[in-house]
Amino acid sequence: MEVIKRTAEMQEISLRLKREGRIIGLVPTMGYLHDGHLSLIKKARRENDIVIMSNFVNPLQFGPKEDFATYPRDLDRDNKSAESVGVDYVFAPANEEMYPQGYDTYVEVKGPITEKMCGKSRPGHFKGVTTVVLKLFLITQPDRAYFGQKDAQQAIVIRKMVTDLNVPVKIITCPIVREEDGLALSSRNTYLSSEERLQALALPRALSAGRDMIMKGETDPQKVRLHIKQMLESSPGIRVDYVVVVDGDNLSDLSAIKGKVLLAAAVYVGKTRLIDNIDLEV
Ligand code: PAJ
Repeated sequence: MEVIKRTAEMQEISLRLKREGRIIGLVPTMGYLHDGHLSLIKKARRENDIVIMSNFVNPLQFGPKEDFATYPRDLDRDNKSAESVGVDYVFAPANEEMYPQGYDTYVEVKGPITEKMCGKSRPGHFKGVTTVVLKLFLITQPDRAYFGQKDAQQAIVIRKMVTDLNVPVKIITCPIVREEDGLALSSRNTYLSSEERLQALALPRALSAGRDMIMKGETDPQKVRLHIKQMLESSPGIRVDYVVVVDGDNLSDLSAIKGKVLLAAAVYVGKTRLIDNIDLEV
């Protein structure tokens, strides 16, 4: 495995590999790898000749009051994990490599899918995500790029960018990996105290309760949303940011539960913001 820090070098390698006819799979990450990230890499390993993993905590997607400075980082450990699951190249640029002095270009998906949910709570977040992801695509020239359903809205926003801009990359979304007790794996789980870690279980439990309502025949999205919200609000240590029950393809509001449905929520446990979701087809 090679660790590349320069954008020009990574792009040269990728363009050469493409000229040689190799199929490239990209797994973009912000590091501090867990089994969720590794599930994406393993899928990319099975489906491509070359696997590139980027490891870059992207300052553009963090708000001024968010956790950019404290976001957990451990490049050495990440490189060992990446190598153990068969990554060929880790691309780990410094901030100045990605955004040198005078950097001025941004990519933004406008419209309803970036205005709600995390887009509403974190203004500018998705603009930061689409900008870095398009840069990573141009630097690493992937045929396929792998994203987690954990960040369901992110995957939908990236699909929209790729469609709107005719980007020749196939976007592959992979299922959420959870701890045995149901908590979705996240680099941010390391912020939780042992008490908060227990309190956080309210999030997957409330979403599962919402799914159970639908499985039992409930078709009113508002009733399901309210049930999830009330369960969260009555859970100790939890502050609700949002709860939605929306169309699983484009996040639009539903008049009735039918087809692809996404139950998604964001909560604060202490100072830590966690997101989770369940998607189902009715
Ligand atoms: P990061 O939070 O490091 O996540 C990298 C990828 O891993 C994302 O596609 C995310 O959805 C996926 N992932 C995280 N937790 C997961 C879990 N429990 N199960 C399955 N997949 C999971 O998402 C980002 O980084 C950034 O926004 C990025 C796309 C790299 C752009 O900076």
